[in-house]
Amino acid sequence: MENTNKQIDPSGHIKTYALRTGRMTDAQKKAYHTLYSRYGITEADSGIVSSEKLFSNSKPLIIEIGFGMGQATSEIAQKRPDYNFLGIEVHTPGVGKLLILIEELKLDNLKVFHGDALPFLANHIADNSLAGFHIFFPDPWPKKRHHKRRIINKENLAFFTRKLKPEGYIYFITDWEEYAESAKAIFDAEPGLYNSSLHESGWAERQDWRPVTKFELRAKQEGRTIRELFYRKRETKPSSET
Ligand SMILES: C[S@@+](CC[C@H](N)C(=O)[O-])C[C@H]1O[C@@H](n2cnc3c(N)ncnc32)[C@H](O)[C@@H]1O
Repeated sequence: MENTNKQIDPSGHIKTYALRTGRMTDAQKKAYHTLYSRYGITEADSGIVSSEKLFSNSKPLIIEIGFGMGQATSEIAQKRPDYNFLGIEVHTPGVGKLLILIEELKLDNLKVFHGDALPFLANHIADNSLAGFHIFFPDPWPKKRHHKRRIINKENLAFFTRKLKPEGYIYFITDWEEYAESAKAIFDAEPGLYNSSLHESGWAERQDWRPVTKFELRAKQEGRTIRELFYRKRETKPSSET
């Protein structure tokens, strides 16, 4: 039967974003039209995506879901040349902006997909293939009736874990305390992951390669706590699971 629920995408996932009608600058529009064919991937030509296919090398591949305007994305790619990065975002101005940054900074280890990350992962990323996921300040969906739209829920986390290689990681950050607490409980309950933070509290430190963004500085100035989770995939499932 045809899926008529606008909140469910074709791969059966609940949509985790609300499309904003942000205006694009002329530079972003131009970048989108001239650079996407070089640094972007389209559904039609992607098939199963890997470092070999996208970058013609075998560096570990990290996916960022929801890069916003791509400030952190481009800086991290620049600081970590031994990894390849694929940034995924639905917001068109952000895609334009990141394309500009890739060109300006001459980044040869970063590509972009414009679209919803969940069906993209389902259709184009092999299980046990990724070195990591970055999920930075995802939409908090603060109202209780919208919590089901959060990118971190039990099903999505199990799905992301399946896409990781053993020891691959998921790095999640939020400034929304209640989301942080509930995400941590979901991470702790996922049998395929372990918390790789050395802190007794279970919260992680900022990784030294991650820049502090303008958004994050404002959140701190407004008195919100930045919570970070850094979990890795277990080599094998715990024995109770086998
Ligand atoms: C609150 S913003 C944070 C952006 C950025 N990570 C930052 O730290 O500034 C969350 C972003 O995730 C994007 N997003 C949410 N769900 C997504 C999905 N399923 N696929 C791709 N992008 C998504 C939204 O469009 C939005 O730009």
